[in-house]
Parts: sequence; structure tokens; C-alpha cells
Amino acid sequence: MCGIIAAASERNVSELLVKGLHKMEYRGYDSAGLALHQENDITHLKALGKVSLLEEKLKSENPSSTLGIAHTRWATHGEPSEKNAHPHKSNERIYIVHNGIIENHLELKIFLEEEGYQINSETDSEVIGHLLDYFLNQRNNILDSIYLTKEKLDGAYAIAVLDIKDGENIYLARSKSPLLIGKGNNENFAASDPLAIGKLANEFIFLEDDDVAVISKSTIQIYDATKQSIQRKITEIDSEYQTTSKGEYKHFMEKEIYEQPQAILNTLDGRVGGDDVRDDIFGIGSSELFKKVKRIQIVACGTSLHAGRVASNWLSAIAGIPTQVDYASEYRYRNPHVDEDSLLVTISQSGETADTIAALRYGKEKDYLSTTTICNVPTSSLARESDFFLYTNAGPEIGVASTKAFTTQLTGLMLLVLSLAKSRKMNPKLRKRIITALRKLPEKIEEALELKQQIIKIAPEIAKKENALFLGRGIFYPISKEGALKLKEISYIHAEAYPAGELKHGPLALIDENMPVIALAPESEIVEKLVSNLEEVKARGGMLYVFSDTSIKMDLSSGKFINMPECDFLLKPILYTIPLQILAYEVALLRGTEIDQPRNLAKSVTVE
Ligand code: M6R
Repeated sequence: MCGIIAAASERNVSELLVKGLHKMEYRGYDSAGLALHQENDITHLKALGKVSLLEEKLKSENPSSTLGIAHTRWATHGEPSEKNAHPHKSNERIYIVHNGIIENHLELKIFLEEEGYQINSETDSEVIGHLLDYFLNQRNNILDSIYLTKEKLDGAYAIAVLDIKDGENIYLARSKSPLLIGKGNNENFAASDPLAIGKLANEFIFLEDDDVAVISKSTIQIYDATKQSIQRKITEIDSEYQTTSKGEYKHFMEKEIYEQPQAILNTLDGRVGGDDVRDDIFGIGSSELFKKVKRIQIVACGTSLHAGRVASNWLSAIAGIPTQVDYASEYRYRNPHVDEDSLLVTISQSGETADTIAALRYGKEKDYLSTTTICNVPTSSLARESDFFLYTNAGPEIGVASTKAFTTQLTGLMLLVLSLAKSRKMNPKLRKRIITALRKLPEKIEEALELKQQIIKIAPEIAKKENALFLGRGIFYPISKEGALKLKEISYIHAEAYPAGELKHGPLALIDENMPVIALAPESEIVEKLVSNLEEVKARGGMLYVFSDTSIKMDLSSGKFINMPECDFLLKPILYTIPLQILAYEVALLRGTEIDQPRNLAKSVTVE
């Protein structure tokens, strides 16, 4: 993970770099650092902890520089510490920041030590600077040294390099980790994410794998894998996408929960017309291609995977298409069989999740009919590399815990179901019913958000516990998994989810008065069976919190019923997500955890 940023300008760039790091803290926040070029010297600052600590150091030193690189870290190799923070330097000459993982760093360390280099950190990144220095000492110029270094590196990287002997240029290289250049007015920038430099530049160039680039305040040169000078496409990015303020809310997560009605409206905007979805909403030619699809393979990670699991139920029940769902991190290692006429679907908020990108690239080498992604970042690697793409248009999601990205993914997935069902013999009444329900969904979500006061009352009981169990059946099982993920991620309470019928096959042993059990019990053909499962919990003293829109004949000695708004059954998984997000948020608030940036995590997981 990690975020890197670089700037070459006429003005002092130190504050710009730190501001950019703040915007990329979602990528990691255990330490930060920068290197600023000053005549024949470099100001090199590092701080353990968040970017604000680096900012304090910077204020007290107050350096001025027109050329610099900076980094915010999410530790992969080596604990969070100043020693392991970037930039790493070599021979008091070369300073580098790196995002990614150098897989062969151990063997490179042995090589470098034999060549007389002292390794000063536990990171995989440090070797990059020493390799560059090694090749420079062999009388290569810096560009050639970068290519020679690249030949030695296995793994993923986005790198920015500052050379003390060069007061004009910053050198960049990428392979598998995102890196883009932003063109400003007499200044140029590079960063892992356009968010970091969005206010400084409005034209962006996304470097491709194996590109090397050199930026100065007035020039941008890009070279491809064979060292040929090359032009890459210039992209303009909507400045609205850059809005990242908390407004009246305490946390981004809270703001993002309450933004969901509008976010879903945005996902639906322009995609639904009359009683059906419009043609080609996944891109030109998608409707024609979807007619041929006989099977679907979904790959994703974390919350996005849960969205995929809900969608697999919809795809087979509504569109009659058998669907398999895999963890992106596992998919390519199980030697999957690809059926003829299968569509590969990836789902991702960021579009930069390394495992999901790797699964897409793996899939593109197989016999898939086509690839489609549902994603919240139109400029992301997944969006660019997939044949078809639906932009969820949820707006930037800053809180590490995914909320509006999930419900908009589910909305987008229902649009996929309808698009696929279009050419099949879907009952028109069913189609109309789903479209009507989708149109009403934002107002249903508003109603679910009003459950906040009831949830605030139960949060203190759960906040005191160290474990929690989430139960759901059928399509609500992935929603209970999402509820458990939200709770554990931001409150650090250990939480598990089970299909309720599985309880008696083991987990029931965990139930006593210290185990809160959160159950999703919407009106359905199996609600009676679920109630029997809940009786088993009650009989063993478990505290039950039951979210339901039907009258359940059961007395709760401890716990509570929470009445859910009514909604079309097919969209209830989206609705039932809302109180679970609020519950996790309110519990975490009581426990005083870092809600937007939970420990050990990062928003965009760009390492495998
Ligand atoms: O950006 P992506 O949707 O690909 O990210 C996948 C997961 O890392 C992400 O959903 C993660 O599980 C969330 N932090 C959960 O809230």
C-alpha cells in the first residue's frame, strides 16, 4: 500500500507534499517522511505515526524547496518506525519513496552487502536506492541506472527518486503499483492517487506498467519498457471527485453512511429508463455481449466480495445465470476451470486492490468471453483494464470501513442482473417490480437511517463485550458477514457471522450471557426456521438483537427487537446493511477507536 507524492515547481513544495500525503493517509498511516532538494543538500525528515507528526517537524524546520518527494507508509516489511519510514537514502546521494513490495529483497540485500552497502532498515524498499547508487557508480547515467535497477527487481513498485546531484528532475518508475503524473501551471507532480494532487493539476497521465518518467517543473518525459520515448493519454478528472471534507460529521465513515441515499441515486442516474435498465450501461457493446453470457465468475476482496456473494444469489434467482464467487487472493491459485461463454466480473471500491487486479489479469489470459468491473474510481486500473465498466458514482469514500461503496456496488450489481436478464425471458412483471423498488430505494435507506436512535440505545451493551455473533440466512448471510466485518474492523471486537442453521453444528458452544447475537430476520419463507435458531440462542442465555420487519413471536429476556422499514424482498439485503453500519460506528465511537483509520489497515490494499 503506502502513498507516494513528488513535486517539481517554481514555488516551495514542502507544504504541498504534506497536504498530498494527508489526502493519501487512507493508503497507510503508520509513518511518513519527505526529502526536499536544496542546492547541493537534501532536507530529510521522517516521523513515526500519522502525517500530522511529520507536518509538525516540517513546521519547526521550515525548509524551502522547489523539488521534493514524500511518502505515507503502511508497513509490510519491518515494523512501523522512523528507521523503516521512507524516503530511504543511499550514499547520501539517492533518496527514494516506494509503494509496493519487492519480493526478491532478501537476495538483493545479500548482493548489496557483498558490494559494500550497509542495510539500515528492515524494509524491502531500501534496496532500490542502493541498486540505483550501485549502477550510477558503474558510470551509468541515472535513466540507465533506473532501467538496470528495474531489471533486478521482482514484485510491484511505484517509485519516485531524488538525486542530490540533480536539482531539476524527479525520476519515476512503475510496475503493477499505481502512479500518475499531474500537469500543473509551471509545475508538475506525481502521486499514487489523483486525490493527492487533484487541486494542483487538472490533467493527469496514468503511467503504464514498466514506464519510466522524468518530471521537472516544465517538462514531462515518459519512456516505455524498451526505453523508447512515448506519449501516454492525458485524462481530465472531474474536480467534484476530489471533494474530501467531513462537513458537519465527526468522521468520514459517519458522513459516508448518511450519504447513501444520494450515492444510490447517483448510481441509478441515467441507467434506468421506463420499466427497464437502458442499453449499454456497462459500455458500448455490453448489451450485445451480455446476450451470450452463460456463466459468471465474480472475484473481489473484503466488503466488495460480500457484495459479490449477494449478487450471486440474484444472478441465479433472477437472471438464471449460474455464478461462482471467489476471494481475489485465492482465485488464481486454484487453477480454475473457465467454462465457455463465461463473464469475469470484478468488484472494487478503489479499483486498485492488488489481488483483484491480479485476478483480472489472470482471467484475461483465460478463455473468458469478456471482463466487466463495478468500481467507484473511473480512472483506476480495474476500470481501465476491464472490457466493460459500471461506475458506481458514490463519490470519494475516505473512511477505511467501506459503507456507501458497498450499497452502491449492490445497486450496480442489480443493474448488471437486469442488463443480463434483458435478453433472457425475464418476467416483465418481475422486471417492473425491481425497477420500482430500485427507484424507491433511496427513500427506504433514509427510513433505515432513522433507526440511529434505537441503535444508540443498544450500542453500549455491545461495546462492553469482546465478541459478537452475526446471523443471517440465504441472501442475508453475506450481509451478516458484512456486519461482522464492519464491527471487527472499527471497534476491534471479535465478530463472526454464520448462516443461522449452522449454529448447532459448533458455534452454539460459544453462546452465554456474554455473547451478543445480532440476527437479520426479514419476512421470508424461512423466517420461522430462523426463529427456531434464535430460540436455541435464547435458551442458552445469549443476548439477541433482532432486526426484522415481521412480527416474531418470541420474548427476549435480554436484547431487543429493532423494527425495520418495509421494502421489496429482493432489495432488503441493501436495506439491512444500514443498521449494521450504524451499529458498528456507534460501538466504535463508545470504544474510542480511530474510526476512519483503524489500526493495521489501509483503505486501498495495493499489495498482494
Ligand atoms: O477497494 P476494494 O473494494 O477492492 O477493497 C477491498 C477491501 O479491501 C475492502 O472492501 C475492505 O474489506 C474494507 N475496508 C472493508 O470495510
